[in-house]
Amino acid sequence: MSVAAGTLAPEAIRPHLRGRFGDPYRFEPECESTQSLLLGADLPEGAVAATDHQTAGRGRLGRTWVAPAGSSVLASVLLHPPAERQWPELALVGGVAAADAIEAATDLSAQVKWPNDVMLDRRKVAGVLAEARDASVVLGIGINVNQTRSELPLDAPTEPASLRTVTGSTYDVAELLGSLLLRLERLYDAWREGGLSEIYVDLGSRNFLFGRRVLVDGRDGIGGVIGRDGRLEVHVGHGETISVESGEVEYVR
Ligand code: BTN
Repeated sequence: MSVAAGTLAPEAIRPHLRGRFGDPYRFEPECESTQSLLLGADLPEGAVAATDHQTAGRGRLGRTWVAPAGSSVLASVLLHPPAERQWPELALVGGVAAADAIEAATDLSAQVKWPNDVMLDRRKVAGVLAEARDASVVLGIGINVNQTRSELPLDAPTEPASLRTVTGSTYDVAELLGSLLLRLERLYDAWREGGLSEIYVDLGSRNFLFGRRVLVDGRDGIGGVIGRDGRLEVHVGHGETISVESGEVEYVR
């Protein structure tokens, strides 16, 4: 995989779609955010919206997601999770799927930094955004693929990288999205059946914060396990362990 091909247009993605995710596939060469393209409650689970360029890409906690045209995987998947599942866990499901796809493409180990970042070589190469819409969830995934160092955001809270800045190679974004969608479909089906326990082996082994020094709400600690309820344990000293449900955990390099 060494030829840079920067489009997620239907003709580029079609040879790489092997499961039910990606049908229907809505593509716009440019849009505000793929999170807003999957409107219509009648769309089936696995409907995907993708673009080559977002003008108002959204990140977690009100942040922006910025990438030059044709450099990245920018896609959202519509999911209809059962009511008994905790839908915010889908950020972790998406993170594991993205880490898996990145690992398959690069042959390097990728981790999930709780709750929604994907790390390669200790830098953030992907982010996941789960947003609820009535009974549905729109799961957005952005992967930095072919950006050069100078094309990455300067002000990101977690140091960013792209697959290219880490490995020196360029990648076919459509092939990577196809691989991501197939992995996401398998992990989602398992999660749908039995929750995070069903993907725990993959998630636990990819826990980037485990054993690292972290800062949570101004408190120093050591990252612990991600529970089967999706919370992150942090050991804050004197035998005290807190369980973090949401928000931001910084890690100390
Ligand atoms: C984060 O790390 O804060 C989450 C980033 C999610 C970015 C993706 S790109 C595709 C989809 N569309 C958006 O506007 N955001 C998500």
